[in-house]
Amino acid sequence: MKGLILSGGKGTRMRPITHTAAKQLLPVANKPILFYGIEALKSAGIKEIAIIISPETGNDVRIAVGDGSRWGIRIEYILQDEPLGLAHAVKTARPFLGEDPFVMYLGDNLIKDGVGPLVTRFEEGHADAFILLKEVANPSSFGVAQLNEDGSRILCLEEKPANPKSNLALVGVYLFNKNIHTAIDQIKPSKRGELEITDAIQQLISTGHHVDSHILQSWWLDTGKKDDMLEANRVVLDEMTDVSMLGTTDSGSRISGRVHIGKGSILKNCTVRGPAMIGEDCILEDSYVGPFTSIGDGARVTHAEIEHCILREHCQIIDFHGRIEDSLIGVNVELKRSNSKPIAFRLMIGDDSKVEVV
Ligand code: TTP
Repeated sequence: MKGLILSGGKGTRMRPITHTAAKQLLPVANKPILFYGIEALKSAGIKEIAIIISPETGNDVRIAVGDGSRWGIRIEYILQDEPLGLAHAVKTARPFLGEDPFVMYLGDNLIKDGVGPLVTRFEEGHADAFILLKEVANPSSFGVAQLNEDGSRILCLEEKPANPKSNLALVGVYLFNKNIHTAIDQIKPSKRGELEITDAIQQLISTGHHVDSHILQSWWLDTGKKDDMLEANRVVLDEMTDVSMLGTTDSGSRISGRVHIGKGSILKNCTVRGPAMIGEDCILEDSYVGPFTSIGDGARVTHAEIEHCILREHCQIIDFHGRIEDSLIGVNVELKRSNSKPIAFRLMIGDDSKVEVV
């Protein structure tokens, strides 16, 4: 069994963050989302993985991930010149995949239970494809499956339907055998110009192949947008068990709940309520850090209240004297209160940024 992780794409819904970075490298609990997928495949016993990359962000992905040796597996990279769809990514990876069965994992997805049991079920069964489904409130944003009455058979699949026939969305983890390649050769690009994996699976069904499915009961997160990232961060921090206090706190600081503080970080006169994750070499002074917050390495926060946020590496929130919630703050961003006259907001904000002020 091989692994194929999709880390190309455009990431338009995460702009402006994705103007300068791959969305799959955005941190959830201070670890790139992509690493959760790699680790899920590794835990399932998969040792050969290829990652689909784009010309824009591929190099960053290569640098961040490396050759896989840190996980004891082999990772190679496949350049997809244009994001022409998930099935197009599989087509591009055909020389790597050969005739082997494989797990396809979308690099911006997180699932709680890993993929080990799914791999076992697929290997022991006779299905040509195995898909995971999850009940969602907004099915028209996803690929949607309609099952028969007792749920044992998939009747049809549709990509982002305007009038969904069910609330069962396709989760971004799929298992295939070599027959998916023939199905992909038989489909045409959709109205949005992409070769859809949903259409390829529908093609398998229409040509009499066996597609098995399983409805996930545990959480699945598709981190396409800012609020999805914050939700992923919340869920992962909520389950965080590995907490260490590797930095220093003074007597004026109060730390409660599950809080991880990285090496070299210094907290003075701060209140931190977990679950929260503070990276390495951060400086926090006279501040409050509330639950479900991750702060990246080298960040600096003074006179500020931060809750339910992701602060990326080396950002600075200085003498802010205010509260920040539900926010994703990029690398090296500076936010500070200034006393210079005239009193005004002075901003340098990149394209597609979103700012809410009170
Ligand atoms: P999407 O989130 O569906 O697409 P996107 O990354 O282009 O994002 P947006 O809709 O915000 O513009 O992609 C799911 C995953 O698959 C994601 O990790 C990117 C990856 N992908 C590819 O590798 N190649 C592709 O052709 C496409 C469409 C996506």
